[in-house]
Amino acid sequence: MDLKRRIPLLRWSVWRMATGARNISRTGQIGDGREAAAVDYVLNHARAGDIDDVLATIDRFAYEKSMLINVGDEKGQLLDAAVRRADPSVALELGTYVGYGALRIARAAPGAKVYSVELAEANAVNARRIWAHAGVADRVTCVVGTIGDGGRTLDALANEHGFGSGTIDLLFLDHDKDAYLDDLKSILDRGWLHPGSIAVADNVRVPGAPQYRGYMREQQGKTWNTTEHKTHLEYQSMVSDLVLESEYLG
Ligand SMILES: C[S@@+](CC[C@H](N)C(=O)[O-])C[C@H]1O[C@@H](n2cnc3c(N)ncnc32)[C@H](O)[C@@H]1O
Repeated sequence: MDLKRRIPLLRWSVWRMATGARNISRTGQIGDGREAAAVDYVLNHARAGDIDDVLATIDRFAYEKSMLINVGDEKGQLLDAAVRRADPSVALELGTYVGYGALRIARAAPGAKVYSVELAEANAVNARRIWAHAGVADRVTCVVGTIGDGGRTLDALANEHGFGSGTIDLLFLDHDKDAYLDDLKSILDRGWLHPGSIAVADNVRVPGAPQYRGYMREQQGKTWNTTEHKTHLEYQSMVSDLVLESEYLG
């Protein structure tokens, strides 16, 4: 693997991300147009209808062009394994970005309907283009909103997409790290998880979701059974990260 892949600080697009941190929380994008550029790159370079090639092309863009905040190839394998374990009919992702994570879920669960909730309309537009190119637009849906928006998005999931008691087999939390726990609890309050549902949480160490991690530790063996996977932050091997995989015990 070349040095720039291993050592992120050698890459300008990684430095540019630091200045884009404020943009990300406000607009869901870094602020230099890299997300739209990633979509163009995929449409121009990846074989249409080939999920593997679309994912590999997004990874190549993130390594060689501009770093993206996808779950990425290394943590993505943990996600894939959790999805296969859950064997979902319905999966819900929180935080769509360019649609990479939802596409990984769709690949690992070819029979599943995948929903992804995203704060930023511009990200929804980008992700839908990528999903259409990969040929999964009929079973991957982006819902624009947030779980914490006073019930609007939760109601849309219920009324427009049929979410109800025990619907969610696989939940992937990869959005606002401070919202992981509240959003999980809102979903639990709706009764949408069932014993055996799996929740996967990215970035639990970096940027960090300490409340969520503390809750899962406190609930260990009671309502949740959690495995903490040690891994690395996306698209490099210098900074470590944690992915939590938690089975709901009911
Ligand atoms: C780390 S990226 C998601 C990456 C994606 N899961 C993947 O692996 O390809 C985080 C995304 O969450 C979105 N976001 C931030 N706060 C959110 C919230 N409260 N609800 C839904 N989406 C949110 C951001 O706009 C951004 O697109």
